[in-house]
Amino acid sequence: MSKWVQGTVAGKRQWTDRLISLSVDAPGVTFVAGQFGRLALPAPPGSPEEMVGRPYSFVNPPGATPHEFYFITVPGGPLTPRLAALEPGDPVWLLPRANGFFSVAEVPAADVLWCLATGTGIGPFLSILRTAEPWTRFRRVVLVHAVRFAEELTYREVIASIAAAHPTAFATVAVVSRDHHPDALAGRIPELIRDGQLEARAGVALTAECAHVMLCGNPAMVEDTQQALEERGMRRHRRKQPGHITVETYW
Ligand SMILES: Cc1cc2nc3c(=O)[nH]c(=O)nc-3n(C[C@H](O)[C@H](O)[C@H](O)COP(=O)(O)OP(=O)(O)OC[C@H]3O[C@@H](n4cnc5c(N)ncnc54)[C@H](O)[C@@H]3O)c2cc1C
Ligand SMILES: NC(=O)c1ccc[n+]([C@@H]2O[C@H](COP(=O)([O-])OP(=O)(O)OC[C@H]3O[C@@H](n4cnc5c(N)ncnc54)[C@H](OP(=O)(O)O)[C@@H]3O)[C@@H](O)[C@H]2O)c1
Repeated sequence: MSKWVQGTVAGKRQWTDRLISLSVDAPGVTFVAGQFGRLALPAPPGSPEEMVGRPYSFVNPPGATPHEFYFITVPGGPLTPRLAALEPGDPVWLLPRANGFFSVAEVPAADVLWCLATGTGIGPFLSILRTAEPWTRFRRVVLVHAVRFAEELTYREVIASIAAAHPTAFATVAVVSRDHHPDALAGRIPELIRDGQLEARAGVALTAECAHVMLCGNPAMVEDTQQALEERGMRRHRRKQPGHITVETYW
């Protein structure tokens, strides 16, 4: 277990039967907002690997403790049912260093930053938007959280605190696809881009001239949204070929 750092579950929030946030005390584990770490538990006896580990985005901003992770329990998954069974005081293992390029530092200059998430993909944005950098780099920031059911619109109090801290720069839009919610748009992100509803609700333009879009969560959403954005003249951002779209897929 040498490469792993042993942490301790400090707290647990069960949002729905399948959506859980764990806070974890793990001194010495560092990251940049938007990056992911790795959570692990000892592998069952007879497994080829010593540990079962998976990547998870940090939800807390850097420097804030304990660390926080937000995940959905995948029935039959090798790790998530076991993570879901953890209680405060239990050990859980992490890698000391984080990974990934899904950070504002990797995003080129733009007037507006759009942060589009499905499900647990909201996590890295909650970290990023609680740092100073986006508010010095972009005039407006829009956060969109798309979920199946209204009860999955989690972290509303954190989003409200971001809105209170940045009342003129920040806009947030909730999207619910299989339920009704009075404050949410109905449907899916790509269609809501195409028919103009997302821009209308945010009160912010989504164009190649002014915007950079960060996408996180379901890979099918990332793919379909990228297509809708390409129809607007936007393209994937690469370090060597600057563009308008930065992505993180969760599976
Ligand atoms: C860069 C990166 C960051 C990630 N960050 C997070 C995170 O912050 N929170 C999180 O819940 N997951 C995150 N994941 C996914 C996570 O690593 C695991 O795959 C997931 O928790 C399921 O683990 P498992 O071992 O139980 O099942 P696995 O065998 O790993 O996955 C089984 C199946 O579950 C589904 N699935 C996996 N993750 C999700 C998800 N997040 N939402 C809906 N369906 C999913 C997929 O269909 C997948 O094929 C991330 C993945 C990557 C690559
Ligand atoms: N959430 C649950 O109650 C539930 C129940 C059983 C199983 N699961 C399993 O849990 C995992 C998913 O959980 P989840 O609910 O967090 O995530 P999800 O399936 O990624 O859904 C989150 C949001 O993304 C939307 N979406 C899906 N595909 C899209 C696409 N191609 N383009 C744009 N938007 C898209 C969904 O819309 P749509 O609703 O239109 O798909 C939904 O609004 C899957 O493995 C699923 O099989 C979840």
